[in-house]
Amino acid sequence: MSIDYSLKFKVLSDARGKLIALEGGRQIPFDIKRIYYLYDLNDLPRGFHAHYKLKQVMICLNGSLRVYLDDGKGRKENIELSNPQEAVLIDNLVWHEMHDFSKDCVIAVLASDYYDEADYIRDYSIFEKAIRER
Ligand code: TYD
Repeated sequence: MSIDYSLKFKVLSDARGKLIALEGGRQIPFDIKRIYYLYDLNDLPRGFHAHYKLKQVMICLNGSLRVYLDDGKGRKENIELSNPQEAVLIDNLVWHEMHDFSKDCVIAVLASDYYDEADYIRDYSIFEKAIRER
């Protein structure tokens, strides 16, 4: 079995171009409390953490990156994101890393809650313990 991470959005397309609309509780499987974006990225990978409670949806608006997901129970995914129609659902208790950003990469993240450092698990062995105690 693989991690159920894949979201694909409906594109509203006409002669003027394309539009994607995202609503909390509809296309996005939670209420959206926070949006942040990443840009001007370099060769340095990011992430390397999981969250106790937070759920997030990651969308690559421009360029490309690779997203690595690990559920701590042997299920791992390596996802190439390069299309704003596609997104990765990063559920709570999923270790995630972002690698190989293109120079023009712009990433939007929709999150289910406000920023809270106490919700981060930045140590992989603590992540494994949290999975065992789930
Ligand atoms: P971090 O989550 O470590 O970034 P990444 O997962 O991309 O590696 O966040 C980097 C810094 O920004 C860290 O000091 C926390 C801060 N931050 C906020 O203040 N608010 C936010 O919503 C986010 C995501 C990060």
